[in-house]
Amino acid sequence: MCGIIGYAGTKRVDKVLISGLKKLEYRGYDSAGLAFITNDNNLEIIKSVGKISKLEEKVNKSNIQFGNVGIGHTRWATHGIPNEINAHPHTSGKVSIVHNGIIENYTNIKEELQSKGVTFYSDTDTEVACAYINYIYETEKDKIKCIQKACKHFRGSYAFGIIFEDDKDSIFVTRRDSPLIIGISDGENFVSSDVSAFLSYTKKYILLDHNEFAKVSSNSVLIYNDNGDLLNKEINIATWSDTQYEKNGYEHFMLKEIYEEPLVLKNIFNRYLNDISYLKDVDLSIYNNIHIVACGSAMHAGLVGRYLFETYANIPVTVDVASEYRYKNQIITDQTLVIIVSQSGETADTLAALRVAKSKGATVLAIVNVLGSTITREANIVIYTYAGPEIAVATTKGYTSQVAILATLAFEISRKHLTLDEKNKIISEMNNIQNILNYVLLKIEEYKDIAKSIYKKEHLFFIGRGIDYSMCMEGSLKLKEISYMHSEAYPAGELKHGTISLIENKTPIIAIATNKNLYEKTISNIKETKARGAFVIFITNEELDTTGDFYDIKLVLPTSTDFLQSLSVVTALQLISYYTAKERKCDIDKPKNLAKSVTVE
Ligand code: M6R
Repeated sequence: MCGIIGYAGTKRVDKVLISGLKKLEYRGYDSAGLAFITNDNNLEIIKSVGKISKLEEKVNKSNIQFGNVGIGHTRWATHGIPNEINAHPHTSGKVSIVHNGIIENYTNIKEELQSKGVTFYSDTDTEVACAYINYIYETEKDKIKCIQKACKHFRGSYAFGIIFEDDKDSIFVTRRDSPLIIGISDGENFVSSDVSAFLSYTKKYILLDHNEFAKVSSNSVLIYNDNGDLLNKEINIATWSDTQYEKNGYEHFMLKEIYEEPLVLKNIFNRYLNDISYLKDVDLSIYNNIHIVACGSAMHAGLVGRYLFETYANIPVTVDVASEYRYKNQIITDQTLVIIVSQSGETADTLAALRVAKSKGATVLAIVNVLGSTITREANIVIYTYAGPEIAVATTKGYTSQVAILATLAFEISRKHLTLDEKNKIISEMNNIQNILNYVLLKIEEYKDIAKSIYKKEHLFFIGRGIDYSMCMEGSLKLKEISYMHSEAYPAGELKHGTISLIENKTPIIAIATNKNLYEKTISNIKETKARGAFVIFITNEELDTTGDFYDIKLVLPTSTDFLQSLSVVTALQLISYYTAKERKCDIDKPKNLAKSVTVE
């Protein structure tokens, strides 16, 4: 989603803003722009549609004498098509603004301003917010107070970066729900949607909280609360380094991040398996029902979690997509544990679901990757995945690390139900995860062959039962989002209730059967599709490996307990999607229409 960068210092502002915007590209965008102060104290704006490189070209061709203060933006269109007029920054009177989020009541405000003679040029809610701040500024000359007054009128979510034409040294920022971070350095300061944009300049940062307002200049950062009191905020040190945001020789971030999975998972089990201090003083045994709430792949990780909690700990679990959960009647008692799963920790629907659950008295445990993100600041207990920055829009290590944490938690709660042998087996596999996944990564040629067999097709099905079905859900989403092939995941036994009518000669089916108890049943369902001409790619494990005439291609992966099997299978599915998207010449790291961090509802 939209990305904000701002700079006040001594360097040439265009260079800092463009390099920051490049770091924010992964969030997803369709246009970009800059507003900055020139050396001769004018406020200039440059925008362009498409890649940052186009904006950079425009900047380089201009004859402007760039100054040292400015704001920049990558826009992911919500209100109005991606064109230059709708691109940020927007300007009204003395105010220029960049915005991440949505002003829900912008239509009313627009009408109010139009009735006072204000003209609008774009379709955006942001131009309306800008005009409203400018309108307030006509009577309230204290800039912080002006922004506070305007924000009281806005409904929705926002992070704003603002420049006033009559203050050439400062950027003003505030936020509600959308993220905004202030980077601190000597003689220069930054603002951004995430630390990646300024990590090459400084590792020191301040997390701006909701309804806080800041004036950021080269030599000072002044932060105020809603009442106008000056705050003394903690300075944090980023643990992620700038090089983690580089491809380091890999063709795509997605591939690099898949190759990071063995180590990330090893670290998770090392860190959490025998040390449950991360649970603080929470006794998990008091909960007799669990709600897992998340979006997209994080929700699919939750499906694996549900299987494990229900099967091994005998606890009933519901899994909901956050955008549904937040509006349904959530039945929460004091024995309900709500588990929120989110890589970014900023997903708007997931955050809203967390707030609803907390308001109903639930204990909320969040599994999150991004340190200091909004969800981590609002949950009762936080378990970090420590997977490092994930840049590719399609999550890979983000997903597997969430599954690993859920598996650790499920194991912890199930201990009393497991035999000593079972416990030892699970622990030994957790300790060996790096080798298991490295072995999965060795099968590259097999993944490439599978990709070659399906990449020309437009439709594909994933089928499986039980925990295999959860893996199908994630495999199918991965393929859709990066290769643009239509794909559906079905419980293998459900196909015959309708969808089997779509199976015809050579329709590709990826069938997963790694679960011993359901294996025979799944094979029967695979045969039903084969009898109708399907082209079957059969994925199983070494223990269940069998030959037969019910598949066209077979992929055999290492055998694991239920707690870990999805880690190796989904890693293989990620690579199949990757090579399929590559065959189809897709923009793998930045699929069309998608954003990494979905900060609007
Ligand atoms: O940051 P989150 O984990 O909260 O994101 C949730 C989904 O938006 C995310 O998993 C999305 O489905 C990915 N693009 C899938 O690869």
